Amino acid sequence: MTIQTILKIPDPRLKLVSEPVTKFDGKLQTLVQDMLETMYDAPGIGLAAIQIGVAKRLLVIDLAKEEEPKAPMVFVNPDIISVSDELSIYEEGCLSIPDYYESVERPARIKIRYQDETGENREIEADGLLATCLQHEIDHLNGVMFIDHISKLKRTRVITKFTKAAKSLKDVKRGE
Ligand code: NI
Repeated sequence: MTIQTILKIPDPRLKLVSEPVTKFDGKLQTLVQDMLETMYDAPGIGLAAIQIGVAKRLLVIDLAKEEEPKAPMVFVNPDIISVSDELSIYEEGCLSIPDYYESVERPARIKIRYQDETGENREIEADGLLATCLQHEIDHLNGVMFIDHISKLKRTRVITKFTKAAKSLKDVKRGE
């Protein structure tokens, strides 16, 4: 297992639409383990494959609190099949936009269809934090980030900040 580098905005790969997973082989198991290890190391509660540069429809989530045993969940090729009219608001963050948090309104409950890591078809209904987290991660598979759900003014401000930070890092590296 390897901790992978997490892509940060404005990396253009974060805008890619990821491809379905078709092979449930050892390579997929390794990818899942790498994603979990990378997410725990960050630390974060969710990670989509594209965040480590792999454009596959795969995400991992673990909502266990620090003092609780780990409870990893793996979702392959997830699709939202229904959403509630009722909405809920959560303060969201993203490992690809470190230390930035904003309130996002999304459907409070969703039903999704997905495959587990062995390729078995499954369905779940989610509410609360899991519903929000699943929608946030599934967005990543479509090249959408949580800042795409906030005001244009706030979005432009945060993208500008991270673009400047990425540029100055590049300048430093060039100077080495
Ligand atoms: Ni994210």
